[in-house]
Amino acid sequence: MDFLSPLYERARQNPKRIVFAEGTEPRVLEAAAELKKQGLCTPILLENPEAHPKFQAHIQRFQELRGSTVEEATEKMKNPHYFATMLLHEGEADGMIAGPTAPSKERILPALELIKTKIEHHRVSGAMIMILPETVDPDAANGGVLLFADCAVNIEPTVEVLAQIASDTADTASHLGLDPKIALLSFSTAGSTEHPLTKKMRDAADLIKHQRPDLAVEGEMQVDTALMDEVAALKDPGSPIAGHANVLIFPDLEAGNIGYKLVERLAGATVIGPILQGLKKPMNEVSRGSTSQDIFNLAVFTCIQAQLPA
Ligand SMILES: CC(C)(COP(=O)(O)OP(=O)(O)OC[C@H]1O[C@@H](n2cnc3c(N)ncnc32)[C@H](O)[C@@H]1OP(=O)(O)O)[C@@H](O)C(=O)NCCC(=O)NCCS
Repeated sequence: MDFLSPLYERARQNPKRIVFAEGTEPRVLEAAAELKKQGLCTPILLENPEAHPKFQAHIQRFQELRGSTVEEATEKMKNPHYFATMLLHEGEADGMIAGPTAPSKERILPALELIKTKIEHHRVSGAMIMILPETVDPDAANGGVLLFADCAVNIEPTVEVLAQIASDTADTASHLGLDPKIALLSFSTAGSTEHPLTKKMRDAADLIKHQRPDLAVEGEMQVDTALMDEVAALKDPGSPIAGHANVLIFPDLEAGNIGYKLVERLAGATVIGPILQGLKKPMNEVSRGSTSQDIFNLAVFTCIQAQLPA
């Protein structure tokens, strides 16, 4: 199945204004030109914030929003990631792409500080859309599109944060037209190893079941049990999720970030993300290893997020 073409069509139906914080970067320029040519979004390419007509106004606005000194606000507004975030905050763009040359913290922090979360005290997390090639065993591929999280933000999530990550990733999957089946991953399946780390994932699964009875979730579970019918039949027979999972929640950022890169590099998956979940407005970031095609695809998904009701 061609997963990407319907996404392009959705973006094209209502193209949104997407600001690119690194508007002079060659990969960004290439992606933006193609997005514009195909009518998928209206790219806003940020060059030098100091030359922008709203530079002074946004220094003042930043002071109001963050209670900072004029010196600090000026420094922040000189930074293209903060300035692009301010354009998004002020409604001068509908979505934003950060990166790909800045390190992760520089890309994410402005959105956490200015855009903030839809729900107070909710944690923003980063999901990866993993589009698997046809060479992957269909028993493991579970339809060919999987979501992995958190691969980008929360280094050591608590049980509560894991539940938020799972719930938000299920919603992201639904926005993509998938029927989310969530597995909370560990090195143990259904209590096969008793350890505080395996219990943590089991507790997170229980918490989601309590908070979101509408979601299909199980844990803790090993990744082969989550993905493959053959293994599920041995280790977790009768589970409605085991063997069929398409939303994989990793125990921490080390596992999530390593896991998605392994599948991307060794299996040849096409990756869209990280999709930053939980923010009031759509802002996504591209890692330094991204290609112009990665930036293109992420901008398309950002446009789709911007089309969703606030
Ligand atoms: C995301 C990250 C940059 C936040 O940095 P931090 O130093 O923990 O941030 P702070 O604790 O100083 O908090 C700064 C602000 O962000 C908010 N914040 C931090 N993490 C948040 C999260 N996950 N969700 C929502 N808000 C968050 C804080 O509440 C605070 O807001 P406030 O200033 O309005 O009170 C940091 O957790 C990080 O580096 N994560 C790993 C990123 C990474 O390496 N990814 C892998 C490569 S993609």
